[in-house]
Amino acid sequence: MNIILLGAPGAGKGTQAEVINKELGIPTISTGNMLRAAVKAGTEYGLKAKAAMDAGALVSDDIVIGILKDRIAEPDAQNGFILDGFPRTVPQAEALDAMGVQIDKVIEIDVPDETIKQRLSGRRVCLKCGATYHVDFKPSKVEGVCDACGDPIVIRKDDEPATVLSRLATYHETTAPLKGYYENQGKLISVKGLDTVEETSKAVLAVLK
Ligand code: AP5
Ligand code: MG
Repeated sequence: MNIILLGAPGAGKGTQAEVINKELGIPTISTGNMLRAAVKAGTEYGLKAKAAMDAGALVSDDIVIGILKDRIAEPDAQNGFILDGFPRTVPQAEALDAMGVQIDKVIEIDVPDETIKQRLSGRRVCLKCGATYHVDFKPSKVEGVCDACGDPIVIRKDDEPATVLSRLATYHETTAPLKGYYENQGKLISVKGLDTVEETSKAVLAVLK
């Protein structure tokens, strides 16, 4: 099964991707995590992407489509995958269709902007394995340490309040139109993401049954 998780920054795409990954055993492909790893490693496209990411803007379609195309060609993605954070523009969705990738379901996690601001102010992430935590709603077992790999967990650079506002504006302007794109293809399913992580997971997994 090939799944797209759609939703505003902080809606819970990464959190629910971890749950689907455990349930279905298919890999999560997060363009955000891949870009952050590239920035950390100082690769050529990491250097190009950094300024846009720090400003809460989108990285260019060319770069992101290139990364995605290489990633879905890898062996572990041949039996299905979860796309977290891609596509984010209509040209990216069109590029995916042009690659001949068959998408089965597009799950939109719907959360109001006010809740998102609260969530992102308490988020902590592991830059090594990509696991996501929240100081109140999903704390790690040991403060400051990733449960999954033991690396330190940190505040993401783009979770500063002013940058969150830019990311939300970019989402409403450029990414939200994808709801109509996938509605027209009969693939969009919307799930309320306001409840707890566990309740939202139940709703997401019910869609995949
Ligand atoms: P990316 O990493 O994809 O960030 P994003 O879309 O802004 O989404 P987030 O990762 O911030 O949120 P999420 O929905 O995963 O929420 P999470 O599960 O962490 O992209 C970063 C940047 O990379 C972009 O700004 C752009 O520059 C670039 N980029 C990436 N892809 C691109 C593309 N395709 N094209 C162009 N540029 C691209 O949850 C948030 C917090 O809330 C966590 O702390 C979590 O524990 C908590 N939480 C989750 N669910 C619940 C719940 N139900 N109740 C309470 N708390 C919850
Ligand atoms: Mg994420």
